[in-house]
Amino acid sequence: MADENLPLHVGIIMDGNGRWAKQRLKPRNYGHDAGMKRVMKLAAHAKDRGIRYLTLYTLSTENLNRPEEELEGIYDLFRKYFGEYAVKLSKENSDVRIIGDISVLPADVQQKMLSACARKVENPDLTVIFAINYGSRAEIVRAANLAVQRGKKVTEEDFSHLLYTDGIPDPDLIIRTGREVRLSNFLLWQAAYAELYFTDILFPDFNNAAFDKALKDYSLRSRRYGKI
Ligand code: FPP
Repeated sequence: MADENLPLHVGIIMDGNGRWAKQRLKPRNYGHDAGMKRVMKLAAHAKDRGIRYLTLYTLSTENLNRPEEELEGIYDLFRKYFGEYAVKLSKENSDVRIIGDISVLPADVQQKMLSACARKVENPDLTVIFAINYGSRAEIVRAANLAVQRGKKVTEEDFSHLLYTDGIPDPDLIIRTGREVRLSNFLLWQAAYAELYFTDILFPDFNNAAFDKALKDYSLRSRRYGKI
């Protein structure tokens, strides 16, 4: 499929871990664990498919209101992921980046995340971007305040440099798993011309073949950016 029209940047709203666990009569964190394993497989596959940027909505600002027990389970996954797995990613020529305000997370989790992000490779094949305590409106307000501090009018391009995603091209394709049909405060500015793809599949079941199906769907779309 060498001539296939592929996205450079794919965003995924990874929804449905809780329901996936519930279907198996397991606690919600069982679903998050399965979700993390799915992330590892998808990142490797995305790289093989030639995707250059993969942004994962990992924890929204609103998700931080979940019960302490669930959050602790997610933080443990972060400890594991940003410790061991991020090392593996950089050995495989991929970079890790985080967007969002991680300052509210436990200190050791922040430390692991920062070390993972600091481990840069020269010409990464893939950059995996984790949106953590991320909310698009908060990101836009933060950028607006930075613009005000600078005291002069900004263009769209200037403004985009003030967002967490500075330097990352806008997403071409945003996938949401788990049946809901909305963006839930994910990359609202950046998604202006993104193609959207929704699937009922719960995230832990969103396998490489399901990802390929989304890419195939994308490749058949006609992107006009408002032109005719
Ligand atoms: C949405 O499912 C998922 C989350 C709120 C957390 C996502 C976290 C992971 C996939 C773990 C990944 C961790 C790393 C480090 C990659 P939900 O709980 O809202 O599911 P539900 O809608 O079925 O309740």
